[in-house]
Amino acid sequence: MPIRFRWLVALLLLSLCLTSGFAQVQQETAAAAGHQEQQKANDSWWKHAVIYEIYPRSFQDWNGDGVGDINGITQRLDYLRDLGIDAIWLTPMYPSPQVDFGYDIADYTAIDAQYGTMADFDRLVQEAKARNIRVIMDFVANHTSDQNPWFIESRSSRTNPKRDWYIWRDGKTPGQPPNNWLSWFGHSAWQFDIKTGQYYYHYFYPQQPDLNWRNPQVREAMMNVLRFWMDRGVAGFRIDAVSRLYEDPNLHDDPLLPGKNAYGDPNIEHKYTDNLPEVHESLREMRQVVDQYPGDPVLISEADEPNIIELAKMYGSKLDEIQLPMDFQFADVNQLSARRFRELIDQIDHNAAGGQPYFFFNNHDQDRTWNRYGDGIHNDDIAKLMAALLLTTRATPQMYYGEEIGMVTTPPTRKEDVKDPIGKIGWPKEKGRDGERTPMQWDTSKNAGFSTSATPWLRVPTSYVQRNVAVEEKNPNSLLNFYKQLIALRRSQRALRDGSYQALSRQDADVLSYLRKNPQSGESVLVVLNMSSQPKTLMFDLKREGISGSSAKYLLSNPATGAVAVPLNAVPVASFGTFVGAVR
Ligand code: GLC
Repeated sequence: MPIRFRWLVALLLLSLCLTSGFAQVQQETAAAAGHQEQQKANDSWWKHAVIYEIYPRSFQDWNGDGVGDINGITQRLDYLRDLGIDAIWLTPMYPSPQVDFGYDIADYTAIDAQYGTMADFDRLVQEAKARNIRVIMDFVANHTSDQNPWFIESRSSRTNPKRDWYIWRDGKTPGQPPNNWLSWFGHSAWQFDIKTGQYYYHYFYPQQPDLNWRNPQVREAMMNVLRFWMDRGVAGFRIDAVSRLYEDPNLHDDPLLPGKNAYGDPNIEHKYTDNLPEVHESLREMRQVVDQYPGDPVLISEADEPNIIELAKMYGSKLDEIQLPMDFQFADVNQLSARRFRELIDQIDHNAAGGQPYFFFNNHDQDRTWNRYGDGIHNDDIAKLMAALLLTTRATPQMYYGEEIGMVTTPPTRKEDVKDPIGKIGWPKEKGRDGERTPMQWDTSKNAGFSTSATPWLRVPTSYVQRNVAVEEKNPNSLLNFYKQLIALRRSQRALRDGSYQALSRQDADVLSYLRKNPQSGESVLVVLNMSSQPKTLMFDLKREGISGSSAKYLLSNPATGAVAVPLNAVPVASFGTFVGAVR
């Protein structure tokens, strides 16, 4: 072969080798990326996130009108980033007559002017993203406002095409509602509408008519709502009142229970309006919609499920429904009972069938932890203990604005000051939910730095003088700094992030202790929470758990001791004290 041809052949061979080598590298890179994707899928962000609920009316008023707004939230994003928050859930900010402060939606795909504009919202999402904070919207699926154009059409005539979008029925007899179903907010769940001579059904206020989820057009319209917000870059939804989406089409009366409720109605079991099996079909449909978007979107459900069986169903038999169903049983133990908390952690650990537990203690509907768990003397220690419980189990934790500074439920003292209608209906037994929705306490300035208005929509509690962000940031032993340290530990300790949960000292009625076991050979984390007023010294033998060391490395405690190592055969915990240590 002439020399120049030999060169040509050699060059050809070389380039072939190079290309095939390159192809192989490309293939390997693709495989590695695929593997990473797979790992990511197994390691969803929402399993490790700390989620923070914001009640926009009360977080930060930017324009000085006395009501919190979107720009106010944007203004405080640095605070949330420094606290260690990964995602914020915003309660409704859609156009609404505000009968139920936004949970009565007149337009699902717009922003209420009192909170700002869509451009403000887009900026919030962008600015949050720049700080690695995701935005989760509230999806009020069960009902709309009676001012929603859908309902206005529906009530206009019996033959209107949207008539069947809501639940209309004839009375049992003239002047008698179709059955005995009761509204969660008091009295009959049926409202008579003179114009068309029929009743419509409302699980909540009469101004919140229930959508008819059996109607395919309703389902499609609601799926489009999800798509609208996903297209704007949100990370998922907290779905309001999901267990109430469907009710018995045959309108059976609910069984009566003994006694009366705060509104003076007979107690009933909401047997025919809660947790109907059809709910799960709709949850799967919602999940399929959000799953079409990148970024591993999350669905969180509000549903005060009565037991672990109903709660576990929310995940879906193939984990194809809700990723994070709120565990109301855990939130509402309402006493410092180590036994009960242990039992509930066990229950969800064993029954979620691979689903991720989701714990919280506070939200916009219930008294704050400070009041429900505090004993009036050791409230700060108890708040720290509850924070440690929230932030050291396997469950994804959800906080509510102000719990990190120890905000106190401050209900109105006079009926004329009540804003929440259930407080007006149920006064004085039921004072409504204003008490847990008071403005965020930022500093010691006017209105605790929440608003420059002379009259914020709810009065700022007087406790703001001691309990506010600015004061607590400066105090190393404050509740706020305790939260920050716990959140930082949750991030930095592999065992707290990914470890399994193992209950310890199961018979102890006063102290809740557990191990978060490192999935690898590194440090595991021992958590000891003394739920009693007696100081204790605990002994732990962790050999069976694969821990051979005889001491725990100090990570965090209340009271703070700063000890370097604590012997495992004598771990001291003060009354209502907390100890978190690393063991191996
Ligand atoms: C949910 C909300 C609550 C609201 C109700 C009716 O329970 O959390 O605030 O009043 O639904 O929408």
